[in-house]
Amino acid sequence: MGIPIIIDCDPGVDDALAIILALKHPKIDLKAICSVTGNGDLHNTTNNGLKILSLCGREDIPLYRGSAKGLDDKQPDTVPAFGDDGLGGYAHMVQTDKKAEEEHAVDFLVRAANEKPGEITLFAIGPCTNIAKAIRKDKEFPKKIKRIIVMGGSKYTGNMSPVAEYNFWADPLAAKEVMEAGFHELVMIGLDVTNKIALGADIREMLRIFDTDLSKFIYNITREGLDDNWKSRRKPVSPMHDVLTVAYLIDESILTLKKAHIGIVDEGIAKGQSIVDINGHWVNGECNALYAAEVDVNKFYKLLLTTIFKEHEEEILDYLK
Ligand code: RIB
Ligand code: CA
Repeated sequence: MGIPIIIDCDPGVDDALAIILALKHPKIDLKAICSVTGNGDLHNTTNNGLKILSLCGREDIPLYRGSAKGLDDKQPDTVPAFGDDGLGGYAHMVQTDKKAEEEHAVDFLVRAANEKPGEITLFAIGPCTNIAKAIRKDKEFPKKIKRIIVMGGSKYTGNMSPVAEYNFWADPLAAKEVMEAGFHELVMIGLDVTNKIALGADIREMLRIFDTDLSKFIYNITREGLDDNWKSRRKPVSPMHDVLTVAYLIDESILTLKKAHIGIVDEGIAKGQSIVDINGHWVNGECNALYAAEVDVNKFYKLLLTTIFKEHEEEILDYLK
């Protein structure tokens, strides 16, 4: 029996990789997916989530459509970092008849927490709007969630401004309310570590060599992100931020976590910034989160690739030794 999880996401290439890893690893029991606007509009992120479930032969897993707009009732800027369709221009490679459930994602999240109090590990790997709305709907929601693992924020950098990461920047009030909600355990996995595990050109070529439907799909959907990073940073790597959250749940030794007090700036020039105060030094030791400070990149790649492409385990471990 795997660890029961729900993934709230904005697929998105790296969200797709997180979902694929969760589906492929026996330690994880993916119960449901919730969609939110982010890497694309809600239509695209919802359809892409349905496509990924279908691609992995898991149309049995329900997907609940979430929020199209942020808590401020404005459509956040979507970041076509992954092409106009959110999957690097390759969403058309997967066709599916699977439909989203009728129930809204926020209603589902509150119901799931009430039905299985203390059991669910919740992943927030898009803007935090759905989760903030669940907290507003049921103030006890955070206490009924075993732990929340968030891809967002950073201590030292940003990708939407010099200081703000996209998920927190897109709906900063939601990020603030989630951070202050009092979850039993909140793990923030931000750009400080996720930037270090971007998919390199060498690994992408490995996927091309494997020549399976799934390896070719991942090779294709990651091309746009690599081209974008080459143009903007002269780095031939494709962003893979979200997948590190699932890898962490599978093997917690991949990350070095530090207790911290994390505050979110919800307006002004620094909107979306996460202020990471290690050990709560500036707030008399009061901490509300665990901050991912370091990542074992080689251990991450070994876990990711040998899990998804088990049939190539020997070649992968030989290359990554
Ligand atoms: O800043 C990276 C985050 O924003 C990732 O979750 C990516 O998918 C986008 O949602
Ligand atoms: Ca995402």
